[in-house]
Amino acid sequence: MDKSKSIRKHWDSIFSKTEDLMMGWYEQDPKETFRLLNQIQHWQDSTFFISGAGTSVLVDELLIKKTKLILNDISNEALATVKQRLGKQAKEIIYLCQDISKPIETTIPTIDIWIDRAVLHFLIEEKNIQGYFDNLKTHLAPEGYALFAEFSQIGAKKCANLPVHRYSIEELSGRLGASFKLLSSFDHTFINPHNEERAYIYALFQQLED
Ligand SMILES: C[S@@+](CC[C@H](N)C(=O)[O-])C[C@H]1O[C@@H](n2cnc3c(N)ncnc32)[C@H](O)[C@@H]1O
Repeated sequence: MDKSKSIRKHWDSIFSKTEDLMMGWYEQDPKETFRLLNQIQHWQDSTFFISGAGTSVLVDELLIKKTKLILNDISNEALATVKQRLGKQAKEIIYLCQDISKPIETTIPTIDIWIDRAVLHFLIEEKNIQGYFDNLKTHLAPEGYALFAEFSQIGAKKCANLPVHRYSIEELSGRLGASFKLLSSFDHTFINPHNEERAYIYALFQQLED
């Protein structure tokens, strides 16, 4: 089985068997994401790309603000849950179901704000991490934003039974390159639904126009 297929199978199995509230990354209030978003003027007018949406309620909250959304996830099960939950509103969204480390071949609108919470850190192989950043740089608008929430260097070494690559601000900055400016960052200890601490770093970058 190719690697992407086995990853999809892993996540589909989790999303088909687990209640949202029992997932170790599930948050009822994505307030740290909004803490960064609120630093962007007129973010409500943006086109968002969510690299691995899972079943996050961030989607519902962005829809309330009438933002344009492109939702990606490698798991069909996760996307199906979101579609069902959103009902009629689901039609307003562009859905992709792809391994985000592989080139996006579908035509999608230019992205103003790329959001990744707890997706990038599952990419372990260097070629996959590079593939991820190639996608981001290809599809982000010239002055677009990239918002990350990843396990920090003191964070857990595994999640969902998979190893993770833990991030520092320096590594995120280095991988984005000199054409991105760090606007804001902070550490956050997320208390997960099992009452365990999970150390995250949050960071907001902006691409600078040439
Ligand atoms: C820990 S969950 C986080 C979900 C969501 N971002 C949140 O904050 O609730 C990781 C998500 O990334 C998705 N995912 C994992 N590897 C992926 C990949 N290579 N490409 C796209 N999505 C992936 C999983 O299916 C899952 O929905």
